[in-house]
Amino acid sequence: MEKILVTGATGQIGTVLTKRLREKFGRENVIATDIKEGEDLRDNQPFLFLDILNKIRLQEIVQDHGITQIYHLAAILSASGEYNPKKTWNINLNGLFSILDLAKDGIINKIFFPSTIAVFGNTTPRIQTPQNVPLLPQTVYGMSKTAGELWCNYYNSKFDVDVRSVRYPGIIGHQSIPSGGTTDYAVEIYHAALKDGHYTCFLAKDTRLPMLYMPDALDATIKLMEAPIENIKVRSSYNLSAMSFTPGEIAEVIKKRIPNFTMNYKPDFRQDIAASWSESIDDSQARNDWNWLPSFDLEKMTDDMLDNLRAKYNRNV
Ligand code: SER
Repeated sequence: MEKILVTGATGQIGTVLTKRLREKFGRENVIATDIKEGEDLRDNQPFLFLDILNKIRLQEIVQDHGITQIYHLAAILSASGEYNPKKTWNINLNGLFSILDLAKDGIINKIFFPSTIAVFGNTTPRIQTPQNVPLLPQTVYGMSKTAGELWCNYYNSKFDVDVRSVRYPGIIGHQSIPSGGTTDYAVEIYHAALKDGHYTCFLAKDTRLPMLYMPDALDATIKLMEAPIENIKVRSSYNLSAMSFTPGEIAEVIKKRIPNFTMNYKPDFRQDIAASWSESIDDSQARNDWNWLPSFDLEKMTDDMLDNLRAKYNRNV
């Protein structure tokens, strides 16, 4: 029986992935950890406080609970990272080292490491970005994830560590709120549309970015982790995507459902970050190696987001 530890379990993806893992493996077999409690601590049990830089505490938890797999989600994202570059490097890299070493020492047997489209930069082809491309990331978050991918690949080839990774694009979901990222607008816009009928977007109207709806992100993660080991051909990180759209396009799709919705644009420093990332992604290697196939596009995702958020806010707009 697998015993799973999730770091960053109260973050945007962690909140939802932890629930999904508990449905699959049993609540008591999935330990949530983070430096903050999250919205509903009572509902998020078992939960333990863990600063990912506290290697001793991490080892204690892993040994006390007989952990076999770690989903290592704790990280500082692209926009927040620019305010504190060295802290971001420290957390994003040294947290990963502690976890890779647990696998190298034979204490755990599998790791999930999320990478990102932020590894791409101005030297990367922006349209249908292939799997193997020059990486020259513009943010410290992207630098840390690029280095993380290389370390994962190294631990796999030198020490046979079974670490698996995808480059998540922007992730959109109704269950949790993102923070500190450049793609956060694509979640905020739905909440604002229902609550205020208006959104001021921090990216420019025509900034196209690759995106993925949360149920697809969870499916990809679990599918990758369950794939037979011989199918995993990429040990840095797999390209992954489902759709690409601009702020102007998502606004139009929302307007079709909420005719009074309005949007204006006030691009800030995140515009330069977004402009250095890909517009669309070639994820054929993930599709071939472990049968990745997304099921949500922009229209279907928008229907599902609005249905769920209407219920949450009790709004009939
Ligand atoms: N969603 C992330 C960010 O915007 C990308 O990995 O930072």
